Amino acid sequence: MTNKYIYFVANWKMFGNLRSLNSLDKVIKFSKTNKKKKYKIIYCPPNTLIRPMSKRLKKTTIQVGAQNCHHTYEFGAYTGQVNSSMIKSVGAKYVILGHSENRQIGETDNLINLKIKSAIKSGLKIIFCIGETLKEKRSKKTNQILKRQIEKGLKSIKNKSKIIIAYEPVWSIGTGAIPKEAALTQTISFIKSRFAKKYPKILYGGSVNNKNVEKLKKIPNIDGFLIGGASQSSKKFIDIIQKTII
Ligand code: 13P
Repeated sequence: MTNKYIYFVANWKMFGNLRSLNSLDKVIKFSKTNKKKKYKIIYCPPNTLIRPMSKRLKKTTIQVGAQNCHHTYEFGAYTGQVNSSMIKSVGAKYVILGHSENRQIGETDNLINLKIKSAIKSGLKIIFCIGETLKEKRSKKTNQILKRQIEKGLKSIKNKSKIIIAYEPVWSIGTGAIPKEAALTQTISFIKSRFAKKYPKILYGGSVNNKNVEKLKKIPNIDGFLIGGASQSSKKFIDIIQKTII
């Protein structure tokens, strides 16, 4: 990792209630005492916590994001959904889109493309998740899948300055398994090669923890991590940050 900002994105998934916000205090304290290092912390809690979390983080450098949004920019009759401007209005600066847990329940590349466009219109930054399944990896289709996800997901989006790519192999999420160093190096370099000279930031996600992060941080061109399970423990999350930025 170089002299650039390193991203630590906490994806809380469907975990957390108002009481869970108390766990932020340690992370706030950490960020206040480690001001000189170049890193960004972004918490993506469930929608129910975006507002209270934003308030709690008001006087800090830690930012908040959502985990998904509806593809329609306008208001509309979509029961149970929220759109990009609604999450923005309660304090989100980022949104995770294309997460494999949503692709698995029917989100298509085209739908993700519409969501990204709507999020850009609302002024949000996008953490755009891509990644292959175990079956695809075994049949050596990783690059082909990533190419399709990138091309379709970012179709007709000229200005990619708001996009951050998160490479999350589906087989690595929540399993404890991470890609081998050589394979991950190759995949990140492949993702980079899909963009012109100025490529987006690239994060890695999938079973990142305080034991494997020192290995992962050595992979060239990784700008940070998208962290699920380990981000729910402030102790583990701080440990991951510390081990990366030191
Ligand atoms: P885990 O870190 O729990 O494997 O989850 C990764 C993830 O899906 C983050 O978006």
